[in-house]
Amino acid sequence: MPIRSDGKRYFLEGNQTAYVLAVRNDKLVEHLYWGPKLPLDTDYPQADRNPSFAFENPQGLIPLEYPAWGGLRFSEPCLKVEFSNGCRDTRLVFEEAAILPRDEAGQPHLVIRLADTAYPLRVELHYRLYEALDIVERWAVVSNVATAESAGSAGTALEPGVIRLEQVFSACWHLPAGTPYCLTHLAGRWGGETQLRHDLLSEGKKVLESRRGATSHQANPWSALTPAGAAVGIDLAAAGTPVPPWPELGRPTGEEDGAVWYGALAWSGNWKIVVETTPYAQTQVLTGINDFDTVITLMPGEKFTTPACVAGYTEGGFGSMSRTLHRYQLRHVLPPASARQLRPVLYNSWEATHFAVNEQQQMKLADKAAQLGVELFVVDDGWFGRRQNDRAGLGDWYVNPEKFPRGLGPLIDHVHRLGMKFGLWVEPEMVNPDSDLYRQHPDWVLHFPARPRTESRYQLVLNLARPDVRQFILDFMDRLLSENPIDFIKWDMNRHLSEPGWPDEPPEHQREIWIRYGEGLYQVWDELRARHPKVLWESCSGGGGRVDLGILRRADQVWTSDNTDPFDRLFIQEGYSYAYSPKAMVSWVTDSPHWGNQRASSLRYRFHVAMSGTLGIGANLNHWSPAEMEEARALVAQYKAIRHLVQEGNLYRLISPRAGELAALQYVNEDAKEAVLFVYLHSRKRLWPVPPIHLRGLSPERVYSLETEEGRLQGPRRISGRALMACGLSLNLQGDFDSVMVRLKAE
Ligand code: GLA
Repeated sequence: MPIRSDGKRYFLEGNQTAYVLAVRNDKLVEHLYWGPKLPLDTDYPQADRNPSFAFENPQGLIPLEYPAWGGLRFSEPCLKVEFSNGCRDTRLVFEEAAILPRDEAGQPHLVIRLADTAYPLRVELHYRLYEALDIVERWAVVSNVATAESAGSAGTALEPGVIRLEQVFSACWHLPAGTPYCLTHLAGRWGGETQLRHDLLSEGKKVLESRRGATSHQANPWSALTPAGAAVGIDLAAAGTPVPPWPELGRPTGEEDGAVWYGALAWSGNWKIVVETTPYAQTQVLTGINDFDTVITLMPGEKFTTPACVAGYTEGGFGSMSRTLHRYQLRHVLPPASARQLRPVLYNSWEATHFAVNEQQQMKLADKAAQLGVELFVVDDGWFGRRQNDRAGLGDWYVNPEKFPRGLGPLIDHVHRLGMKFGLWVEPEMVNPDSDLYRQHPDWVLHFPARPRTESRYQLVLNLARPDVRQFILDFMDRLLSENPIDFIKWDMNRHLSEPGWPDEPPEHQREIWIRYGEGLYQVWDELRARHPKVLWESCSGGGGRVDLGILRRADQVWTSDNTDPFDRLFIQEGYSYAYSPKAMVSWVTDSPHWGNQRASSLRYRFHVAMSGTLGIGANLNHWSPAEMEEARALVAQYKAIRHLVQEGNLYRLISPRAGELAALQYVNEDAKEAVLFVYLHSRKRLWPVPPIHLRGLSPERVYSLETEEGRLQGPRRISGRALMACGLSLNLQGDFDSVMVRLKAE
């Protein structure tokens, strides 16, 4: 049984790891263990531990599964509430537990029910175990269980009425105490998303968050912790925390070796990850919706379900962490209808034509795209309303009659006749003040009375918490998709939320806007997907501003960054790959020199970078010479032959672009019979030769035959898996921004 109990402790055991919690004698639910699976139940810690330090009440230091603020607890809580009589102290104790062998997702599931000792507050903690992946999904359901009768009865609720939730996280994850940690996270900005950061933690808190109403380019709701060894000056001896039998915790974690505790949140609105190290060398990670400017009012009988967060443990380093997260996304996150389909090679005209789209010009580009073997042709911004630039038209979702006098029909037919699918860009959450929609419904945007409505990219944000706004979006999207045989939607969001007012709502509910907006967005996507099940969806937010496990339950793929320069992309894509699957990562080949930095690179290099995710082309094909068209056609064909490995295989980041002058990525299929290797040389310096590339994940006993361009291999075409991994593969690379792709097939 993957989830079982000995009456006091609850064991969640995956293939390699275990997560153990217990109901203490005082009925608190204590976290006991998260790490490698151990042979005997007696190997795991016992419950009822009371860390003891002078001037510190042990009650405040017990690692609780879902700490609520109350008593002498000074570390970050998961839950902070206010009852209607002004009481703000919460005491949650165990009430009951249920183990479901299979839940609605087909996974083993533990539910722990907690109740407040005096007030009508209940909390259900949910744990869904993915045994084969060694990861746990957690969320909480917080209920106001007051009824007219119970609210007045003596000994239970003191007063009927509302409960205000001021902080309600999805989970608290405790790491083994007594060791310092390093936090790995993703930071960035527009054009430079998902940059890896490694921070040494000492006492205090590191907060990763978004207050922008969206996931954001600036930070991403994912984190990983690794043992920092002796690097940080926490006084462990003085802390004296009991250290359970954790193996080799001081070992530094690498790409393929060492301990990693990691997690991510499935939420596309304001989110927060608090990593806290106490003065007693206890480290906890709290994950959930951001409490900033957020209060949820629960009326009697109402409940709030937090978004899910997922976490896992591995001893196989960052590489194993990423492969597990990728597999989890392919099997359990991406929309099931299309999760197993390989993503099509797309063409998008944005960089080629910007807003100046029209029927003739798009047909011409479609002809060229089809010659290259493109499978999906996407018309980006500019096709609707009076949209000549970004100053007008958002909100007016009718086809622009000057640009497409015959509607979209003839273009779609043309694209379909060429054997490609047809896709269209939309930005439904937004409105330009210069639009018919805004002139008709100025009250539909987020705003505070008598305050400015701050524009960004000349646009305002529609309040998706409002049912009439959601209905408007559903209606126009439904019409668009019903009247036109559209196969793909790119859903964009080009600004963040400001002045988050919701004047029509009673003031006590207004601070729920951050959550209701996100829920409203999900409702619309879910409904549209249900009504149009064959359509593929891409999430975009001014590049990679909306990449998270919440949107990936609804979007088949995401736009990674507006920065399409291939060298910059190596870094953006590396950070992305720590947390998210290459299958969902769209990468375009665009023109050289790049518009953003004037860096010139070869067509082959640009392709090789884009081929390490879901390939797209975003160049102006009218400018490509016949020779370039021919080269691109061959590269698209090569991609189609290896995309199953890139999109669904196991990724090994052999050499990080941050490491020096070289980067290398390898993708291997499940039975290690096939692999593809990409090597990128940034710059050859001082005539130093490219060192042999050590492959991974191959079968040592098998012999592989290698296929690559003429003149690239320094050795034989047949090499054993053992030699490829132990001795490496020697390749010829030259100059600046050179690259090579090698296919490997077991004989
Ligand atoms: C955003 C997207 C781009 C493009 C433009 C259109 O910036 O990230 O890919 O769609 O909007 O306005």
